[in-house]
Amino acid sequence: MDVKLKEELLEHSKQDFLPINGTDHIEFYCGNAKQSAYYYQAAFGFKLVAYAGLETGLKDRASYVLQQDKIRLVLTTSFDPNSEISKHVAEHGDGVKVLALWVDDAQHSWEATTERGAESVMAPKIFTDDFGQVKIAAIKTYGETIHKFIERKTYKGAFLPGFIPKEPLFEIKPVGLKYIDHCVGNVELGQMNKWVEFYEDVMGFKLLITFDDNDISTEYTALMSKVVSNGNGYIKFPINEPAEGKKKSQIEEYIEFYRGAGVQHIAVATDDILYTVAELRKRGVEFLYVPDTYYDDLFNRVGEIDEELEDLKDLNILVDRDEEGYLLQIFTKPVEDRPTVFYEIIQRKGAKSFGKGNFKALFESIEREQAMRGTL
Ligand code: FE2
Repeated sequence: MDVKLKEELLEHSKQDFLPINGTDHIEFYCGNAKQSAYYYQAAFGFKLVAYAGLETGLKDRASYVLQQDKIRLVLTTSFDPNSEISKHVAEHGDGVKVLALWVDDAQHSWEATTERGAESVMAPKIFTDDFGQVKIAAIKTYGETIHKFIERKTYKGAFLPGFIPKEPLFEIKPVGLKYIDHCVGNVELGQMNKWVEFYEDVMGFKLLITFDDNDISTEYTALMSKVVSNGNGYIKFPINEPAEGKKKSQIEEYIEFYRGAGVQHIAVATDDILYTVAELRKRGVEFLYVPDTYYDDLFNRVGEIDEELEDLKDLNILVDRDEEGYLLQIFTKPVEDRPTVFYEIIQRKGAKSFGKGNFKALFESIEREQAMRGTL
């Protein structure tokens, strides 16, 4: 690394009051965690690695921990109809409750953010078992979503204290998903700037990109989006809000069905999108459809790329280019019955952007789905 870059990074890390090593895990509250765990294993190639429930001494809930490379999902369900988990599921359907951030100092992370105005969910607390200790704190973000700060320096267990290691019951074939690239939140009309300011002022994130309704609109629908990122760039949170359009936007549809703000999509990175998407399709994962005409002028738009046009067209993968390179991406349909949470599969070949050139084709595709649902 050259000296100047090293100095710049050092300077930036000195200013960063909330150093984050990456996403620790994402926790969903589900109606039936056992069956959701099967779906993520069979369809997405995640591997069951840990479990907590009746057999481990829990009386009121069960959690399954699934892993693929650096991505860790936790699926939690409740046995008590009056629990916060059950109420969350009744209100929102299956959805993301926790975006957990891996930090070296949970105490400091909690203090630095609550001092700056974050609402605390849990003051720093130590959890211990035979495999060591983990310190966890939590604060609120948009909707009913929370951020946990997880400090697990010396911990050697399967996931967190209280969890036991658990093996899958059938052979798991990973699909090549590597890490979480970004997590997108949908917030109510007029709330985007409030949450962008929250990430800037309370979490020390920086505004990376702004998209207005001129960038993101079709004949019918519009939305606005701003992307915030933490100091080292490992955590990227785009925040969307609906904008005035002729018909109901996908963001309004989400907010209506999720009954409030929440996580809209999780973008997961692969280094072989052709393989990943071919596997996911074989296993029954449904993707948004973009018409063949999208590919007519592809090379004029994005220039030379390594992939064959026919392969991309067959799998319906989208391409976009920025100053630094290009990216390949595709979006699943919602992964539950409500039109809420979905996944993006992304492969970056230099590009650090989010596929602005694909927004129009994508939104037209979502509008076709909305029209079928009667929600446009
Ligand atoms: Fe995305």
